[in-house]
Amino acid sequence: MSKRIAVIPGDGVGQEVIPVGLRVLAAVSGSLEFEELPWSCSYYERTGRMMPEDAIERLRQFDAIYLGAVGWPTVPDHVSLWGLLLAIRQGLDLSVNIRPVKLLPGVRSPLLAREPESVDMLFVRENTEGEYSGAGGRVHPGGSDEVAVETSVFSYRAIEKAARYAYRLAGQRRGRLINVTKSNASRHAYVFWDEVVEGLGREYPAVEVERVLVDAMAARMVSHPESIDVAIGSNLFGDILTDLGAAIQGGMGVAASANLNLGGDQPSLFEPVHGSAPDIAGKEMANPIGAILTGALMLEHLGDSAAAARIEAGVVEVASQGMTLTGDLGGQASTREVGEAVAQAISRMESRSRAV
Ligand code: NAI
Ligand code: MG
Repeated sequence: MSKRIAVIPGDGVGQEVIPVGLRVLAAVSGSLEFEELPWSCSYYERTGRMMPEDAIERLRQFDAIYLGAVGWPTVPDHVSLWGLLLAIRQGLDLSVNIRPVKLLPGVRSPLLAREPESVDMLFVRENTEGEYSGAGGRVHPGGSDEVAVETSVFSYRAIEKAARYAYRLAGQRRGRLINVTKSNASRHAYVFWDEVVEGLGREYPAVEVERVLVDAMAARMVSHPESIDVAIGSNLFGDILTDLGAAIQGGMGVAASANLNLGGDQPSLFEPVHGSAPDIAGKEMANPIGAILTGALMLEHLGDSAAAARIEAGVVEVASQGMTLTGDLGGQASTREVGEAVAQAISRMESRSRAV
């Protein structure tokens, strides 16, 4: 049965990597129908909104959402992010954000002498509240008496959802879960977080859970990445650590992510980790690998693991050959050329497998 995908390329390099991701998706699957939605900062400039008032309702009609990036210097970042991405994450209850940090063969990590098998971490980020709950306000605006309050909100329900998902993933991998926290300096929220995450551990006896403070975690990702399997953290910690993870796996351009609705009754959203990269936008320099691998995460979620595996194999082939890569990975190819190379690698592999 065909699946309907809402496509939101968004701003900047989102406009360049998403068409390439769609090209690769079309190469592995004949059963996706795409509908492009122009919601972005330029939509904001025309209409005064990042997306229409009934956007969440409209998105509910789709099976999944494939998004590039939002944000452009003409619109304040908190307006563009809250007007679109964060509104969708909260509106569709996309409770967890899954971010694999995996070194591809052929890609050099800035960590010296690291082989792909030593960098294979999976981050589960609580995605709807915590430090990004949006609760707060400003009083006495405009003068030196002004005060701003931004309150973190941690609910049992949201922590539990993310933690159970992380335990299940850890159970399918190496059976080790790191609980990323800051319950030494924070006395309330992260202490509660630890109680919930670690308390649930009793129900998953096959998974060993280890508590690591977020600052120590940042150091450990660089010094001993091989010791990390699945990690769970709050919205802010997950956001920051996965940019570090992206750098370790070769750069912002290769990192993929899935924002999942765990109830399964609303569409999940899939996006590369990177932003709109105004510094390189419009030059066909952006690495599309993150967007392409994000397409694989989407297919996996939609139940087509075989097509997802074909995309991953195509990316691995192009990365290991090292001939067609963008500048961030030491190559000279354009965004589109990398996409074409991946699509061709996939079709070569398919004709080889038909021949045997
Ligand atoms: P960014 O991820 O756009 O860029 C950071 C650095 O990574 C830049 O040097 C950029 O050139 C490089 N980079 C990013 N994507 C790349 C790619 N595909 N290939 C090669 N290099 C790449 O983050 P930044 O600069 O903090 O934010 C720019 C805008 O994007 C802001 O408006 C921000 O709010 C927005 N943003 C949106 C996100 C989203 O939609 N999920 C996530 C992060 C930022
Ligand atoms: Mg981020």
